[in-house]
Amino acid sequence: MNSIEVKTGSSAYQVRIGRGLLDSLSAELESALQGQKRPSTIAVVTESNVAPLHLATAVEALRPFGARILQHVFPAGETSKNLDTVTGILNFLAENHVTRSDLVVALGGGVTGDIAGFAAAIYLRGIRVAQIPTTLLAAIDSSVGGKTGVDLPAGKNLCGAFWQPSLVLCDPDLLTTLPIKVLHDGVAEAIKYGVIGDRPLFDLLATRNLDDHLEEVIAQCVASKSAIVARDEFDRGDRALLNFGHTFAHAIEKCSDFTIPHGRAVGIGMVMISQLAYQQGWTREACAPAIAAALQRYGLPTATDFTSVQLMPYLLGDKKRSGNKLTLVIPETIGHCVLKTIAVEELQDILA
Ligand SMILES: NC(=O)c1ccc[n+]([C@@H]2O[C@H](COP(=O)([O-])OP(=O)(O)OC[C@H]3O[C@@H](n4cnc5c(N)ncnc54)[C@H](O)[C@@H]3O)[C@@H](O)[C@H]2O)c1
Ligand SMILES: [Zn+2]
Repeated sequence: MNSIEVKTGSSAYQVRIGRGLLDSLSAELESALQGQKRPSTIAVVTESNVAPLHLATAVEALRPFGARILQHVFPAGETSKNLDTVTGILNFLAENHVTRSDLVVALGGGVTGDIAGFAAAIYLRGIRVAQIPTTLLAAIDSSVGGKTGVDLPAGKNLCGAFWQPSLVLCDPDLLTTLPIKVLHDGVAEAIKYGVIGDRPLFDLLATRNLDDHLEEVIAQCVASKSAIVARDEFDRGDRALLNFGHTFAHAIEKCSDFTIPHGRAVGIGMVMISQLAYQQGWTREACAPAIAAALQRYGLPTATDFTSVQLMPYLLGDKKRSGNKLTLVIPETIGHCVLKTIAVEELQDILA
């Protein structure tokens, strides 16, 4: 069992990681909510793929807590990550008289965590939420750090709130039902943590059997994210490091009309920016070959057919762009990245 504390200016909570931990959900909540008002209702929010696999187990695990348990299931998939789904959850909570001292449990992947977390952030101006990630991506990334939100027709994640959970309970056994491709999408993000700040983690992913080290990998990634979030809860500085590979990834996702999943796009994006950084002399070490080799172990792609002309409009629309400048994350070596701010025209010239 691993326990990692996430400390921000406004909150502190535990990320508990361990096989079979879901069975102890009630006890984990008791301890996480100690000294706070006890929820008399717990609303479990999940989606249609996860519900038949894990909802009954989660509800059973909540029984000893002694609260009224509500269940709300929305259709699985990124297309559900919109304000209509949030409205559905808010109405469900209101119709069932959920109060400010009650609790939402988000059971699912990143889509569920983002939607249910956002609903919790705005229902009655904010009620507590516990995150139970069921994908690797959610376990190592989206369930930790308090970013919640939904997509708008104009783009992904354009509407949201920072809302830290009261508890993140991560049971790697929940990941055993994941399609292998979805699991491996998450590995791309784990490799990202290795490159930005954890050489031993990178080496583990590049050489060892993931199944034998899953819990360790999750714990290492969460520790990295926790440290970054503690330094920069509201994404005004260092948190940008988590964006390694993401500037190109977001452009690739958009170019493909989101048929290329996020993790795959991140893998390609990490290789692209590493190649570019080396070619431009921004770094002395060529990191791209090692990153590509690690990705290939998990069947993840390392290049795209989209041309820079096709990607350019989306690169310019990057959410992290600030005025005329774009902040890129550059690997100096495997295990250490730095931020480099460049003018949009410069990137345009280079890619042309
Ligand atoms: N808030 C953040 O900080 C943050 C960070 C990274 C990504 N995200 C968001 O996370 C989302 C992507 O997350 P994701 O990849 O987990 O997507 P997801 O939640 O859609 O899950 C991927 C697929 O796996 C299925 N699934 C989930 N758990 C399963 C299980 N245990 N067994 C079988 N199938 C299961 C889902 O139904 C879905 O089909 C995106 O919307 C992204 O914007 C948020
Ligand atoms: Zn990502």
